[in-house]
Amino acid sequence: MRRLPILLACIGLASCAPGEDRPFNATEEARRAADAAQQQAATPDPEQTEADTEVGTWTKGAMVAAADPRAVEAGLEMLRQGGSAIDAAIAVHAVLGLVEPQSSGIGGGAFMVYYDRAADEITVFDGREIAPASTTPDHFMKDGKPLGFLEAWQSGKAVGVPGQIALYKTSHEAAGQLDWATLFQPAIKLAEDGFEVTPRLAGLLANPRLRGAVRLDDLPASAEYFYPNGEPLPVGFIRTNPDYAATLSAIAESGPSAFYEGEIAQAIVDAVNGDANPGEMSLKDLADYSVKIRPALCGDRTDGFRICSAPPPSSGGVTQNMIMGLYDLLEPTEEAEMTEENYLKAFIDAQRLAYADRDHYVADADFVTVPATDLINPAYLRVRAEEAFAPDETTYPGDPGLALGREPVRPLWGEDATEHGPGTTHVSIVDADGNAVSMTATVEAAFGSSIMVKGFMLNNELTDFSREPTKGTKPVANAPGPKKRPRSSMSPTIVFDPAGDLFMVTGSPGGNSIVAYVSKTLVGVLEWGKSAQEAIDLPNIIARGDTVGVEIDRPGGMEAADALRELGYNVEEREGENSGLHVIIVREDGLEGGADPRREGIAKVLE
Ligand code: DON
Repeated sequence: MRRLPILLACIGLASCAPGEDRPFNATEEARRAADAAQQQAATPDPEQTEADTEVGTWTKGAMVAAADPRAVEAGLEMLRQGGSAIDAAIAVHAVLGLVEPQSSGIGGGAFMVYYDRAADEITVFDGREIAPASTTPDHFMKDGKPLGFLEAWQSGKAVGVPGQIALYKTSHEAAGQLDWATLFQPAIKLAEDGFEVTPRLAGLLANPRLRGAVRLDDLPASAEYFYPNGEPLPVGFIRTNPDYAATLSAIAESGPSAFYEGEIAQAIVDAVNGDANPGEMSLKDLADYSVKIRPALCGDRTDGFRICSAPPPSSGGVTQNMIMGLYDLLEPTEEAEMTEENYLKAFIDAQRLAYADRDHYVADADFVTVPATDLINPAYLRVRAEEAFAPDETTYPGDPGLALGREPVRPLWGEDATEHGPGTTHVSIVDADGNAVSMTATVEAAFGSSIMVKGFMLNNELTDFSREPTKGTKPVANAPGPKKRPRSSMSPTIVFDPAGDLFMVTGSPGGNSIVAYVSKTLVGVLEWGKSAQEAIDLPNIIARGDTVGVEIDRPGGMEAADALRELGYNVEEREGENSGLHVIIVREDGLEGGADPRREGIAKVLE
């Protein structure tokens, strides 16, 4: 069998050689933290006072990792002014909406996972777009058939009520330190002065495949902005966006009401309802939007690490915890089996099982019953790990109800039929007090619905619903519904070490491949001993359904594809994978960051 010299950290490193007397699934750092925690628990200090148990001073520094250096700089500027991770995240994201309009913006939505170190609390701000109140389950059906993907995707019907500005406000009220208006100043200035168009933005605008699929050059406001004189914006062009500056200035001055009511709200409604394939959004839909504050979905690993991510309607918390839990159960235990291929196989099979469950069960838990905690229950995972599927078999969903000795739940839902395309960004931040933000924000497709209003793009997030509301006689869990939030793959994740301290902040864009991209960083760092950057650089491998997609244009990718083919998997060789991972790891001597070379981001410490 072909060797995988690059894929796994331990390969080629004597210290990780199979059979050596050290646990494979923990890095040095992790082991030290686990030892320290164990020691602390074993030897309580009789002299300890309450003050001793208070959280100590944070000495590791601060860092921002995001998809564009100008956005990172805006975040660092907020931190310099004494701002919190949330202040920085808002400033970063307001700039991203300008310089990376293909990925996210104030016309879209996000999930933000926030760790408050002093309170030792982790909270999720769910700023996911919602379907207008008029939405029915057959929203994307016509004459008894689902609308074609592109027809649904590029339409007013696909626009959900944006949640981003409400998320800014709710999170800022919870833990902002700076003045609300301050947060928008870097983006306003850049929009007024003009920003330099990046190779990625210019490349997308000029890409004939993208131009064929989206309507950017057909819709007047978008065409005028992105194709002045009929030509796509070139690299280095200085693009001003006075409309965006005015929109942000109004929000900075008057708060979210400037967006959800009045002139901007009216412009959104007009654009959505006046589209060639119109939606039915009302001013009330916008005025009624509210962020949901939800508990994070956290799972405890056997090595003491705790993985926290977004709960339904996101599938992040379910899938990241399922994959890591299943990996533990599937990784080789016999010395003779401890080969690179078998460690990789464990990761692939964990993904296949988790994706099948996620596809079947995860939807908006405010509308349907999602067995989220059952799916990550170790007792269920033990049963699920036994349901080994041959590499060439299609995985089907498990039944956590049956496995846990209750009523079966799998028959409740028909087979999922949700599809995805590319347009999202991820921001990871640790502030000077050790608080952390992991936020993934999206407009769904590249440039969302292609509809530009007041300097920003409107999302097409409702295509994250299953277009078919039923399969056979059964409802699909992720069918459209009034005020329902479509299922998301976004997995903004924060990991804690065995002592309960912040260890890692990670997340990525990438449609339903997000699940695989983010879990690659978890398995890479927690299991294979990689650094943040090394884990990001690993080739992406997406094991969903009956194929395993392998990114062959990155080092190690072709070797992995060959090895997986030899194991019997149906390998699909892929190029141009669209991850945008931004990772921060807390190491003993400070913060270590990594940014995805597949996009244009950086990770930078606060000097
Ligand atoms: O919420 C979701 O899962 C999708 N709307 C994300 C889309 C996406 O990541 C596109 N990526 N590049």
